[in-house]
Amino acid sequence: MKRTILITGGAGFIGSHLTRLFVTKYPDYKIVNLDKLTYAGNLENLKDIEKAPNYEFVKGDITDMGFIKDLFAKHQFDSVLHCAAESHVDRSITDPLAFVNTNVIGTVTLLQVAKDSWKDKMDGKIFYHISTDEVYGSLGEEGFFTEETKYDPRSPYSASKASSDHFVRAYHHTYKLPVKLSNCSNNYGPYHFPEKLIPLCIHNIINNKPLPIYGKGENVRDWLFVEDHVRAIDVIFHKGEIGETYNIGGHNEWTNIALVKELCKQMDSKLNRPAGTNEKLITYVTDRAGHDLRYAIDASRLRDELGWMPSLQFEEGLSRTIDWYLANTEWLQHVTSGNYQKYYEGMYAGR
Ligand code: NAD
Ligand code: TYD
Repeated sequence: MKRTILITGGAGFIGSHLTRLFVTKYPDYKIVNLDKLTYAGNLENLKDIEKAPNYEFVKGDITDMGFIKDLFAKHQFDSVLHCAAESHVDRSITDPLAFVNTNVIGTVTLLQVAKDSWKDKMDGKIFYHISTDEVYGSLGEEGFFTEETKYDPRSPYSASKASSDHFVRAYHHTYKLPVKLSNCSNNYGPYHFPEKLIPLCIHNIINNKPLPIYGKGENVRDWLFVEDHVRAIDVIFHKGEIGETYNIGGHNEWTNIALVKELCKQMDSKLNRPAGTNEKLITYVTDRAGHDLRYAIDASRLRDELGWMPSLQFEEGLSRTIDWYLANTEWLQHVTSGNYQKYYEGMYAGR
């Protein structure tokens, strides 16, 4: 095997796309997917590759130092693609400590074990940390986040991700750990857990349930198709500079309300409902506490230095995403039963 790679959080949304890409594109890489299988981790996301000869799943927690040490000793990883995280802003507002635990303690645990395991030969090793544009804070109506933008996290989620980014850079600076980082804008696509805006609204439209829009729906996000994100990670992993950060984004800004209206329109047609039917489900609810107004990424470094560009127009990516959810109602049923249902009721009660 040319490389032995630990992917953390490979059963989650982005992690599952990344795992699939690496397992299928690089048959001479051994891929070990370590995931705790929290509410967001779902092995159904990886059914198509679970029997691949270069793939192995291990259930475990990135905060468990002894377990991570044993795993490194067993597999002798030369690379880490670190995706595991608590990822939902609303949950971080209700339970910030869970975010500190996984996103900060978990990341530092991995860094520490990687540093100790690789201390005799750092050459050729890669610790790739996958992060978010939310660490940069919130933009006004103008401007973009670049790699030089000052960190200004404003939610417990983004504060925990910012902290983990700082630790990754500190391990590079202090111990010469060979790290790479990327900060990406909002992703969408298949296998996205239906607590996030797009899959939540697709699920609710299918079931004729209200579409909760926080505040006035004027907040802006820059949406990128998840397969384009993992393609960027692939490029950075193989060609990016050690110690460097790359911003990844779609140049694709939508206010939440415009996005949800586009979704409603496409789903009227796909579900053979009269035009305007789904828009009637839109319901304005109390705003998220500390709701960041606008995120928008300047991804020109990645384009100019490594040649990456998004491949899909948003309307097409959204259409492919809706088609996937309509064809995978069983997946949707499985993830929306049980614990998730209780969480959902708690989160939206009284809104
Ligand atoms: P997700 O919530 O869908 O998946 C997270 C995965 O991590 C799950 O499979 C979960 O079981 C696993 N996990 C959680 N805690 C763990 C622990 N202690 N030990 C081991 N595994 C654990 O998240 P996602 O949307 O796929 O995001 C993946 C990464 O990408 C995160 O680091 C996130 O910050 C970053 N990111 C996400 C987006 C986005 O739009 N979703 C955008 C930019 C960056
Ligand atoms: P989300 O998908 O949670 O991603 P993030 O907060 O990380 O950007 O939310 C995207 C946008 O949609 C954000 O501005 C909050 C808003 N939103 C709603 O209006 N209603 C909802 O039910 C959810 C989950 C999000």
